[in-house]
Amino acid sequence: LKPVKIGICGLGTVGGSTYQVLSRETELLSARAGVQLYVSHIGARRDNPHCATADTRVSRDIFDVARDPQVDILVELIGGTTVAKELIETALASGKHVVTANKALIAEFGSELFALADKHGVVIRYEAAVAGGIPIIKALRERLAGNQILWLAGIINGTGNFILTEMKDKGRAFADVLAEAQALGYAEADPTFDVEGIDAAHKLIILAAIAFGMPLEFTRVYTEGISRITPRDVDYAQELGYRIKHLGIAKQSEAGVELRVHPTLIPERRLLANVDGVKNAVMVEGSAVGPTLYYGAGAGGDATASAVVADVIDLARDIAAEQRPQIASLGVAQQNIVAQTIVPMVQVVTPWYVRLEAEDRAGVMAQITALFSDEGISIEALIQKAPSAGESKVPVIVLTNAAAQGRLDAVIAAMDKLESIADEIMCIRVEMLDV
Ligand code: HSE
Repeated sequence: LKPVKIGICGLGTVGGSTYQVLSRETELLSARAGVQLYVSHIGARRDNPHCATADTRVSRDIFDVARDPQVDILVELIGGTTVAKELIETALASGKHVVTANKALIAEFGSELFALADKHGVVIRYEAAVAGGIPIIKALRERLAGNQILWLAGIINGTGNFILTEMKDKGRAFADVLAEAQALGYAEADPTFDVEGIDAAHKLIILAAIAFGMPLEFTRVYTEGISRITPRDVDYAQELGYRIKHLGIAKQSEAGVELRVHPTLIPERRLLANVDGVKNAVMVEGSAVGPTLYYGAGAGGDATASAVVADVIDLARDIAAEQRPQIASLGVAQQNIVAQTIVPMVQVVTPWYVRLEAEDRAGVMAQITALFSDEGISIEALIQKAPSAGESKVPVIVLTNAAAQGRLDAVIAAMDKLESIADEIMCIRVEMLDV
């Protein structure tokens, strides 16, 4: 058998680790693939001081790798949606299979790229694009194929989870923890993608497209980040028996599909509430299997390389068998992908955590509870704190029963008109995840 030759473009955190795993474990991985694997060509604009490339050929022009007739599989690890897209298009047109960790590219241009791959008789694999080292793509696309997927909910951004965990456990400041996540190689090149939920939204639409056989329509995901969460909210949530996690949720309902990324209170006894640090976890409920849970490192070089290398091995097996990979990119043939109605957020029903500052005088609490009851929202728990020194207003925390966002919006609009309540009101959704 001819060896399978791999070209790696990008030698940053994930690229460097992928090269090292493939070099370090060549024997083991080749045995698994049933064919000799080796990295024949690297494309990197600059060296990585943490990754010696031995005698492997290195080109400064990454397109040299995409055009190299020797390369069978191109591994794209440069990130971004401009040059990376062009690189992948070039590789596909040269008849190479592609492996990528690029969630932004798959979320935004996946449909177009999958169609192009099809045209050239090759495939794009992207296990590393979602939840780092956790094999969630394979699980959802292949191993849960016997199920209707009812819903999935996951912590799918390692940087965000690391920040929330450090805030909770050590009371650390947001910016300080973010800087550490960047130094550890967890964060995106532009970390607002992590803290504003864009990265999680990219991953969620990929999971939803596989789960529901729907198109990759990234812009339809409701996206809210964690940057507004304060240490006080973390503490109050804890007092009420909850943890704040940043969740991506895709749920099938009679009205359509809910697609949402937002901070969420989860009861502290749930497994997802205890997924800490850079770890990710995705819960998937299938119609036959029931709830399932996938857990592991969601970011970082080696963990992500684990997923990249698994895709390389899968493709190498097909190359060795001289067969075209059979599994469709989203697990469903292009012609069977069906657009879904996306449920508008005002109709999405969840319990709510509401934190506000109210005047500390008789009748104000009655006013507050009346506003909720006027909208038919029942209160599950209510805490009023003592005023801080020199403050005339006191923090009030309300936990409601399930209510559509539209109803809560009406309560908040009414509160905005009351002088007894300060302008800044924090609302966070609650998910009970009681399966
Ligand atoms: N910035 C991403 C995260 C990397 O923190 O989850 C993994 O996709």
